[in-house]
Amino acid sequence: MVRSDFDLHGKVTVITGASSGIGTAIARRFAAAGSHIVLAARRELKLQELADALREGGSDPLTCTADVTNYQQVEGLIAAAIGRFGQVDILVNNAGNALARTVAESAPGDLDFQIDANLKGVCYGCRAVVPHMIERRQGQIINLGSICSLRHFPNYAAYVAAKWGVLGFSRSLYEEVREFGIRVNVLCPAAVNTPWADLAGAELPWPQEERLQPEDLAEMALFCVAAPARVQIDTMVAWPICEPTI
Ligand SMILES: NC(=O)c1ccc[n+]([C@@H]2O[C@H](COP(=O)([O-])OP(=O)(O)OC[C@H]3O[C@@H](n4cnc5c(N)ncnc54)[C@H](OP(=O)(O)O)[C@@H]3O)[C@@H](O)[C@H]2O)c1
Repeated sequence: MVRSDFDLHGKVTVITGASSGIGTAIARRFAAAGSHIVLAARRELKLQELADALREGGSDPLTCTADVTNYQQVEGLIAAAIGRFGQVDILVNNAGNALARTVAESAPGDLDFQIDANLKGVCYGCRAVVPHMIERRQGQIINLGSICSLRHFPNYAAYVAAKWGVLGFSRSLYEEVREFGIRVNVLCPAAVNTPWADLAGAELPWPQEERLQPEDLAEMALFCVAAPARVQIDTMVAWPICEPTI
């Protein structure tokens, strides 16, 4: 079922968290497959650098600064994508963060920080795009969960809660929209080689080069899109071989 040459010409993909890591890799991969790309994140400069690189490859990306914890900005992102390209076929709700600390050590704002970006950001993205997709009776939403959507870990309680929430939200949403031909997938990777771990203060024992690479997640996202329209991939779980699964 893998079609590495899958053609996304004529499709429009919106990616949150496109300024780094997995989001950047998905943007590059989907642009290479021919999709129009809308790049979203808070860091405008990073988006512009990526957009310039994509233009060199013949793509015509739109950049849009948006904080996914702000519904008006997320709504503006979807409106900007439709304004420029006329439609949104694929939304990748990828933006996220974490803080590695116990609940007792966490300020209340630390809990908000993680739940707002990882969970509310996904809810907001879906809410903003779903009426458009229902109207068109097609669409695909790819949400970034984590292995933390399926397991629980000390020092990551709010992150785990948010990522479990992403899975529950996505599965419930899918039941609402599948009659319109809309699919909702959740990617659940373990350790990926991106700035995420350092930003979170997470001390992962596995060498960076042995972790999953962002490009692996881009292939997983493309796999979900390339699956025949009758196929709903609920979750895709991926581990680097260096990381134990027990
Ligand atoms: N790396 C891992 O080991 C791993 C494992 C499982 C799941 N994940 C998930 O994968 C997703 C991508 O993470 P990554 O590993 O690629 O990390 P990353 O390199 O740190 O990228 C995170 C992205 O999210 C954006 N972002 C964060 N908060 C945002 C906000 N409030 N509004 C808009 N954008 C925001 C950042 O952009 P700006 O700062 O420019 O806004 C950045 O582009 C996350 O949901 C993460 O939880 C990662």
